[in-house]
Amino acid sequence: EPATTILAIETSCDETAAAIVINGTEVRANIIASQIATHRRFGGVVPEIASRRHMENIVPVVAEAMATAGLSFTGLDAVAVTYGPGLVGALLVGLAYAKSLAYALDKPLIGVHHLLGHIYAGFLQYPHLPLPAACLVVSGGHTSLVYLESHTCRRILGATRDDAAGEAFDKVARVLGLPYPGGPELEKLAREGNPRAINFPRAWLEEGSLDFSFSGLKSAVINYLHHARQTGTEVNLADVAASFQAAVVEVLVTKTIQAARRMATRSILLAGGVAANSSLRQELAAAGREAGLPVFCPSPALCTDNAAMIACAAYYQYLRRDFAPLDLNAIPDLPL
Ligand code: KG4
Ligand code: ZN
Repeated sequence: EPATTILAIETSCDETAAAIVINGTEVRANIIASQIATHRRFGGVVPEIASRRHMENIVPVVAEAMATAGLSFTGLDAVAVTYGPGLVGALLVGLAYAKSLAYALDKPLIGVHHLLGHIYAGFLQYPHLPLPAACLVVSGGHTSLVYLESHTCRRILGATRDDAAGEAFDKVARVLGLPYPGGPELEKLAREGNPRAINFPRAWLEEGSLDFSFSGLKSAVINYLHHARQTGTEVNLADVAASFQAAVVEVLVTKTIQAARRMATRSILLAGGVAANSSLRQELAAAGREAGLPVFCPSPALCTDNAAMIACAAYYQYLRRDFAPLDLNAIPDLPL
């Protein structure tokens, strides 16, 4: 069987990324131009600035991917691109580029859902991970438990009712005075703290619910800091970070195991930017061992936004000829 070489482009938020992946597993190039330094002084992503930076970055980032892979454009079998969800202006830059290239090369265009891309970081690294799987998708914008029956059949078992897990990390990091993006910074601080120092609330919701809620926890942290400041009590910020992280991780892990048990899955998959968190990875792996279920956590660099995961998702779409028309549009709130 001939090899399938896919160029994928990802510009849904603040990383301009391009990757070349063969047969959905062999990563020949995985280039990411991060805009963190640009957005840091604003404390978050500024959409208009992100779009402009994508415009500046997209041509050199793709050129670097092609050079790294040692390929010319004519060596590509398809061009894949993230078309949602994400910032509309940011998505449009990648889309315009990908559509133009697919048209010029007369190769198929493949539109990829960003969260499906996160899920396929798992198949990129573990092509034979046993299905059905329970997949916890935790990113800056989304938190969902997804039942993956096959490559074409999936179902959402639960989702956040308010803040996404990554959003909670970022907001709490901000009140702790940590720089953007807060998730990784908070994890670093938490390493020096005691996760049992403060008993922050865990939102289990109704009996049997696989939904999540993190806004109450976020408020509890803010109230704790506010109360300490008013009463002049000294606060150990590392303890606050560790106790907050422990509360998030406990709920995520418990509900993921519940989902896997309820659906009698053969494995558990962790996906999305928050999957880079080592406490979450360790706790989920331990809980999986106890439940007798293999847990797959892609390496941290594949968990946060990148284009290699988009190329992998695109490969499975390529196999079933799931191609997009050249008038494919950006859909900021694309459902999974
Ligand atoms: O998937 P991603 O790169 O972008 C989105 O699609 O949103 O996820 C970014 C989110 C941010 O909220 C970031 O703070 C969080 O993932 N994150 C982490 C860690 N690394 C990234 N959260 C906790 N611990 C980490 N190590
Ligand atoms: Zn993402």
